[in-house]
Amino acid sequence: MSSSKIPIFILGATGYIGGSVLTRLLAHPNSQTFDITALVRSAEKAQRLQAFGINAVTGSTDEKEKLEALVLQAHVVLSMASADNFPAIQTVLSGMKKRHDALGDVPILIHTSGTGILHDDARGAYASETIYDDMKPEQIEALPATQLHHNLDLAIEEADKAGYLRSYIVFPGTIYGVASGPFVEAGIQHPFSVQIPGLTLAALDRGQPGMVGKGLAIWPHISLDDVVDLYILLFDAVLTNPENVGHGREGYFFVENGEFRWYDLSKAIGEALVEAGLAKSSEPTSFSDEELIKYAGSMEMGNGMGTNARCRANRARALGWKPTKRTEDLFDSIKPGVEALMKAMQVK
Ligand SMILES: NC(=O)c1ccc[n+]([C@@H]2O[C@H](COP(=O)([O-])OP(=O)(O)OC[C@H]3O[C@@H](n4cnc5c(N)ncnc54)[C@H](OP(=O)(O)O)[C@@H]3O)[C@@H](O)[C@H]2O)c1
Repeated sequence: MSSSKIPIFILGATGYIGGSVLTRLLAHPNSQTFDITALVRSAEKAQRLQAFGINAVTGSTDEKEKLEALVLQAHVVLSMASADNFPAIQTVLSGMKKRHDALGDVPILIHTSGTGILHDDARGAYASETIYDDMKPEQIEALPATQLHHNLDLAIEEADKAGYLRSYIVFPGTIYGVASGPFVEAGIQHPFSVQIPGLTLAALDRGQPGMVGKGLAIWPHISLDDVVDLYILLFDAVLTNPENVGHGREGYFFVENGEFRWYDLSKAIGEALVEAGLAKSSEPTSFSDEELIKYAGSMEMGNGMGTNARCRANRARALGWKPTKRTEDLFDSIKPGVEALMKAMQVK
């Protein structure tokens, strides 16, 4: 490694978000100055990533010593593997502290959380009027630590406060769009997001779309391209002008460019499936408790699709982020997204 290069460590490089961010880092005008390492679970994918100039190490975040040693070598850590793996983030933080203690460096952590932290218990019964503003950290501080993902955010914020790293946390809403690019083509990266494909597969299975309760609650959305734009903008800003970017408590970035009602989303999925001859009705009906467990893994996760998580990405916009895709683009993306998912699943 040349000492002039910036050591960057990536978690989640094969993922929907992480693979897209990595693609853009490789196309970055300064990419020659990056020394990128990624921890990848599949040995085969690690090997394929190496052909792209990535120092891909096979392993899991469960391998504490390996993870800590990799973090120790990095000035920038991009955490895009899990918003919920608390032991993994503890290891990342301890590696960053060791780096600070050994070298005096103040490494940078950009972590991916999600607007799930804002969720209420609406169960689809109503649209909330509460809208969170990321320029008002006190509003976020009022959230209980038990909110989804939030134990990790708080541990990261604490580490920033202790001064051994600078943290920036991004909170995307529902991300939409099918990922594309060299890593998808090489079979390295997951092309699909979580919520819309999940609702699509549930609708396919039950013959019509489902929703939690009446589907009246509201969530933010954002296109994958706009999410990646923010990552790169933030990455550039914290490397070149860190004094201009809030961190820790002031470094929470919501990522949204509009909102949707769960009913409308499910209805659009239903229409795409009916058009493809794969569902009997486009009209969403309420999921039963058994269905929530079947399709989401648990009642809690299932009910997440009936919560409100309304917010405004004011901090990212103040940094110069200009998302281009809007609510109409979300709905325009449903039909091609459903078609791509059906093709990938070989559903006819
Ligand atoms: N997609 C969204 O709409 C959205 C919105 C807000 C927040 N988020 C959050 O962002 C994070 C990433 O989302 P995503 O959609 O990109 O998910 P994804 O496609 O499933 O990607 C997850 C990535 O993390 C890797 N990974 C998971 N556990 C690991 C472990 N123990 N050790 C090493 N690598 C591990 C996966 O590797 P493998 O290839 O081996 O599976 C994959 O590269 C999640 O926490 C999610 O909750 C997502």
